[in-house]
Amino acid sequence: MSEEIRIGVFICDCGSNIAGVVRVPEVVEYARGLPHVAFADEGKWSCSVDALGSMQRSIKDQNLNRVVIASCTPRTHEPLFKQTVREAGLNPYLLEFVSIREQVSWVHMNEPDAATQKAKDLVKMGVAKAALLEKGEEIRLPVGKECMIIGGGVAGMNTALHVARQGFQALLVEKQPELGGLLNRITTISHEHGEAVAEEIVKRMKGLVAAEPNIRVFTQAEIEEVKGYIGNYKVKLRSNGTSENLDVSTIVVATGMREIRPEGQYFYGSDPRVVTQLELEAFLKIGQIDQPKKTVIINCVGSKNETKGCCSIGCPVSVKNAFTLKNLNKDSLVHVLYRDLSMVKEEHFQLDAAKAAGVKFIRFPDDRYPEVVNEDGKLKVKVCDILSGKDFILPADLLVLTVGFEGDETMEALKGHLKVSSNAEGFFQERHIKLGPLDFPADGIALCGCAKNPKTFKESCEEGIGAAMRVSIPMKNGHIEAEGIVADIDLTDCNACGLCSKRCPYGAIQVNEQKQPSVVKALCKGCGLCAADCPKECIAIVHYSDDQLQAQVDAALEENAEKKILGFVCHWCALGGVDMAGVSRLQYPTNARLIRVMCSARVPIKLIERAFEKGAAGVLVAGCEFPTCHYITGNYACETRIKRAKKVISKKGYDPEKLWNVWCSAADGPKFANTMREMVKKLDLGK
Ligand code: FES
Repeated sequence: MSEEIRIGVFICDCGSNIAGVVRVPEVVEYARGLPHVAFADEGKWSCSVDALGSMQRSIKDQNLNRVVIASCTPRTHEPLFKQTVREAGLNPYLLEFVSIREQVSWVHMNEPDAATQKAKDLVKMGVAKAALLEKGEEIRLPVGKECMIIGGGVAGMNTALHVARQGFQALLVEKQPELGGLLNRITTISHEHGEAVAEEIVKRMKGLVAAEPNIRVFTQAEIEEVKGYIGNYKVKLRSNGTSENLDVSTIVVATGMREIRPEGQYFYGSDPRVVTQLELEAFLKIGQIDQPKKTVIINCVGSKNETKGCCSIGCPVSVKNAFTLKNLNKDSLVHVLYRDLSMVKEEHFQLDAAKAAGVKFIRFPDDRYPEVVNEDGKLKVKVCDILSGKDFILPADLLVLTVGFEGDETMEALKGHLKVSSNAEGFFQERHIKLGPLDFPADGIALCGCAKNPKTFKESCEEGIGAAMRVSIPMKNGHIEAEGIVADIDLTDCNACGLCSKRCPYGAIQVNEQKQPSVVKALCKGCGLCAADCPKECIAIVHYSDDQLQAQVDAALEENAEKKILGFVCHWCALGGVDMAGVSRLQYPTNARLIRVMCSARVPIKLIERAFEKGAAGVLVAGCEFPTCHYITGNYACETRIKRAKKVISKKGYDPEKLWNVWCSAADGPKFANTMREMVKKLDLGK
């Protein structure tokens, strides 16, 4: 006999954060009337120690076997509540989380009635899903003591040293003949007490690496293949012409960055007098530079614009090199043209020194970059000084461009080998900017240094230590418990088409000789792409099954569906954007009812159809901005599917213009809020 479903609903006031807008007692009363709800309670601060203890007592006293928490965002508090229910003896996969702060009270602050109604709907959706939840389990995998570090620059060497010093094996893989990375190409680095010679730093670090018995170095190495998962990576590489097979448990990516060549800009590439900062460094390093009499440095070339953010290190580098050039020839003229100087406190001594030495600084307006002309073989730079409003013409016999950076040239190949993704800036994408800054979504692979974004020497060293610690935790424990949100295949209706195996971005679905698929759970990340595309609907994703999602759709649209926008949001960036809109208190219409999925790729066409069948005014599928899906290519798969979905719903008589798709970053609250406003306007839903 199946067990009676007894759901406990815990609704948080969050002080006045929620209760200041939403009438929480009314929502609690409403929850008590929902199917399977055996207990509902209001908490002042549900995440406080006292409230968590009281929740655990209620679970036991009331024999609750499912729990719904309605409070803040699951992106920050879900682990805490999972741990709480686990300690109360409940399987944590029987917990459902509903966000009524970021999605309700903070974004509908002036509409208490509509906000209270929306909170009720979200609780109803949570309860509907909770009734169908099933137990899950974390996957325990053994983890050994070998770590491969890819990239032998500062961050990589520091990672290797800190891994090795804990007694683990560090296998340091470098594509160049020598360790050192970018430091091999520059003259000096600045630090708070002055300058240090890069060559000496490299020499010292290489000495430490060579003296460490737990480090093995592979130079001139190219990774040919990586298979497996945490605790069981099989790596094929070629080093100095010899093939090597490595068995490692963890991996750190420290592949560094490269300058973006500003081809065609400011005569770069056609005039040898125009160089980048790194090229200048190379000339300075080998002393092959005719001491220029007139140098102009232009900062922020190709960066800090609509497509590329601030490169973080261009300003201090330009100041350092301007100072060096001035010191080479005290009678020379050195100008630095900048938009704004982003320098941290420790770097200001060099700015002061450069000014004292006579380097001239001219700030130009963001929308009026300097122009360069070649007049009778002479380079001249025209710049507008923002302070005086006057234009100046500066002759230049050396023009140095401070350009932006992107990931190293091995990045594309490594992305394929490691099944990780990159971001719009051309660097590797970390798991989460705040909650997993040194991790990839794949367990056992850490990230550090300039492979993530441009960094100073000090920052690279620090991140190297951080990455070493991230991979050391499972190596020290000897095992890892991986998230149990994975695919589960029921072969009953499977027609052995093999689509799931082809679709999986992680190679987690294997097909046997009879063409029957099976899931390698250690490799599966639970994105749900396979489940959404399976033509026979044989695949369920733990905690995000079709039935559970459909129950949420139906619950959301039970009443007043014609006024509602049913939204599917991916857990990572899209929900991050939703949360950011909340944190920023951006006010938008109350029509949305959002369903969390791990990736936008999880949303099958049949659920979109279902929403329209139930009368939804519109459907939104929101995922991560290209190319940053946390499951490598999920958003691309979703985009393709949405196009198909439009055709499918159109054939069924629904207006395809009512199916929307938005890609936003976790920081882009305004984009999500604007999408809501636009949808409400276009769908003519009034306020
Ligand atoms: Fe956001 Fe895939 S995780 S779209």
